[in-house]
Amino acid sequence: MKWNCVPLDEEALVDLGRKLSSYVKAGVVFSLSGKLGSGKTTLARAIIRNACNGVGDIPSPTFNLVQSYEVVTGFEIWHFDLYRLNSIEEALMLGLEEALIEHCCIIEWPNLIEQIIPSHSIHIQLDFRDRKRSSLSNQRIITIMTSNPIMASFDGL
Ligand SMILES: Nc1ncnc2c1ncn2[C@@H]1O[C@H](COP(=O)(O)OP(=O)(O)OP(=O)(O)O)[C@@H](O)[C@H]1O
Ligand SMILES: [Mg+2]
Repeated sequence: MKWNCVPLDEEALVDLGRKLSSYVKAGVVFSLSGKLGSGKTTLARAIIRNACNGVGDIPSPTFNLVQSYEVVTGFEIWHFDLYRLNSIEEALMLGLEEALIEHCCIIEWPNLIEQIIPSHSIHIQLDFRDRKRSSLSNQRIITIMTSNPIMASFDGL
């Protein structure tokens, strides 16, 4: 399954995050790809905020690589930012493999762990509308691709 969207401004991207939050389940993986500043964390925050009632600050896990949030007792969202990951081993040390099965994972820079990203991941590509990031830079082109049947009910962007 694949969805292409009209260019989304930040508010529309946050709205997309709200829609995607209904797919937060154990074993669901959102893999967010795109250049620096393309909006990966903005989208991740919107998913987390809508899935976790009353969650406070949602910092970008830039330095600690992962931050977890409780959805209900015993079930969490693990938000990864792997930009500074040194090796796959480091990701395994963080508990990534268990998290991919037991929790819902949102992964920025998934290319660094390509070998262990499940094939049923929900792949989301975020691109700047214009290469030069000039006047239209508040719009992002989003492409969603997945083979996960859970997304069959998704009505697009
Ligand atoms: N349509 C849009 N969608 C998302 N963010 C937007 C949009 N327009 C402008 N922005 C701004 O772009 C920035 C996106 O930053 P964000 O941290 O979400 O990117 P990122 O892809 O996570 O970057 P990094 O690779 O550094 O982690 C924010 O400052 C946000 O306000
Ligand atoms: Mg980010």
